[in-house]
Amino acid sequence: MDQATAKPAQPAPCAIVIFGAGGDLTERLLLPALYNLERQGLLPEKLAIIGVAVSDRTTESWIQETDDFFKQMISSPDSEFQAKSIDETAWGRLQSTMSYFRGDISDPSTYKVLGETIDAFDKKFSLNGNVLFYLALPEKFFGPTVDHLATAGLLKQSGKFWRRVVIEKPFGHDDASAKALNADILKSLQETQIYRIDHFLGKETVQNIMALRFGNGMFEPLWNRDHIDHVQITVSETVGVESRGSFYEPTGALRDMVPNHLFQLVAMTAMEAPASFEAEAVRSRKVDAITAMRPIPPEDAVRGQYTAGKIGTKEIVGYRQSEDVSPTSTTETYVALKIHIDNWRWAGVPFYLRTGKCMTNRSTEIAIRFKDAPLALFPRAAADQAAENWMVLEIQPKEGIKINFNAKLPGMQMILAGVEFSFNYGDFFKQIPAVGYESLLYGALTGDPTLFQRADQVEAAWAAVQPVLDAWGKKTDSIPFYEAGATGPAEADQLLQRDDRHWRPLVGDV
Ligand code: BG6
Repeated sequence: MDQATAKPAQPAPCAIVIFGAGGDLTERLLLPALYNLERQGLLPEKLAIIGVAVSDRTTESWIQETDDFFKQMISSPDSEFQAKSIDETAWGRLQSTMSYFRGDISDPSTYKVLGETIDAFDKKFSLNGNVLFYLALPEKFFGPTVDHLATAGLLKQSGKFWRRVVIEKPFGHDDASAKALNADILKSLQETQIYRIDHFLGKETVQNIMALRFGNGMFEPLWNRDHIDHVQITVSETVGVESRGSFYEPTGALRDMVPNHLFQLVAMTAMEAPASFEAEAVRSRKVDAITAMRPIPPEDAVRGQYTAGKIGTKEIVGYRQSEDVSPTSTTETYVALKIHIDNWRWAGVPFYLRTGKCMTNRSTEIAIRFKDAPLALFPRAAADQAAENWMVLEIQPKEGIKINFNAKLPGMQMILAGVEFSFNYGDFFKQIPAVGYESLLYGALTGDPTLFQRADQVEAAWAAVQPVLDAWGKKTDSIPFYEAGATGPAEADQLLQRDDRHWRPLVGDV
């Protein structure tokens, strides 16, 4: 099928200053995303990319490192890059905009020299004073870096030029720290200057949830408590903690995945239709959905930790045996929750959420279970052949939508059997190579905050999970275990069995 017609507008000239230029996020996602935007002609015509980090590098060595990394990504079958070869023209153009700035971000003098550097590039390339600061840094540096930028006068904007700051999750680690972080950065920035990234919103399939719901007339009339029995949202990963033990130990699956990534999926599924596709209209409806979420009682939350096991043919070491992890750790690598959204659309419809590392399969999906027909008129072929009515939004790695329903089994009798409609993105659309940050960077460059989180959404999300954080913070004794390669702890099954329901089987790539 032909792709969209009108080409999106090219962003205005600007400098992009990346703090944490030597880090994994910059190398693996930001630079590849900028390269992909360049290939599509969606970077500003006049641009300077200034990478800031403390390590000794030169512009040449930074470019060389990036070049090596691009080549390595291309040859690696499971990289996010999705390109088969490098478009040398686009990469050459991107290289010509890159320069490396060595500086210690906790030293105020860094910002003075950085300011002079930005001014010099601004004059040289006619950037009109516009600057996007991207904080690809650990959470503890967000507040101080914004303070330093403000003190150096680098965040002041006028009607003629803009200054924007992009920060990446985690936005705090609980209710209080999220509020404190927002209050801190809002001392120096207006809310409209802040772009809080949750990379799940960069996924096409996540953005498609709104297209499905509000771009069609046929689903929305059914999308409520009258027709929906419950919703299951699964983000199951086969990766483990890998080398991230020091980050993961104090974080755990709940903080790492729930108030951010899983709640984005909840918000997209549960939100009311916005009055327009204008950013604030969309963001306000998402905030409404999260605000309507009942604070989660600890009895509706289950945690688990993986032990040694096997995924496919791969032997996995247990979480407690991983690098930088305590041998007596009670950090959860799995969480399952039951959530209530107390509004007219969803009252009485539970949302069950689960996410875990080292699970059987990699699969992210939103599954809507519709209510059964009010009366069973027809016999079923066999219990396992009859379908429950599900609509499954497949987010990754499969990208599509499935609907399960009943049809007549061929033959003389009127007997039902379950069948499936399915739509796969790849069958209809040519995929544009993407690492998932392209639309987010493009949004920040063009000043469109639709895909970014407002302060009130972040705070509402932490408020909903805070009772569980409090309860788990107190308990230091034991944690349910599940073997790596399993579907989670038995307690998670009981969470649904209590309500006479069951989790959908986990299917997907190993
Ligand atoms: C990150 C988490 O934010 O999201 C990781 O810190 C997690 O622990 C990752 O693995 C999942 O993102 P994706 O895009 O790979 O599904």
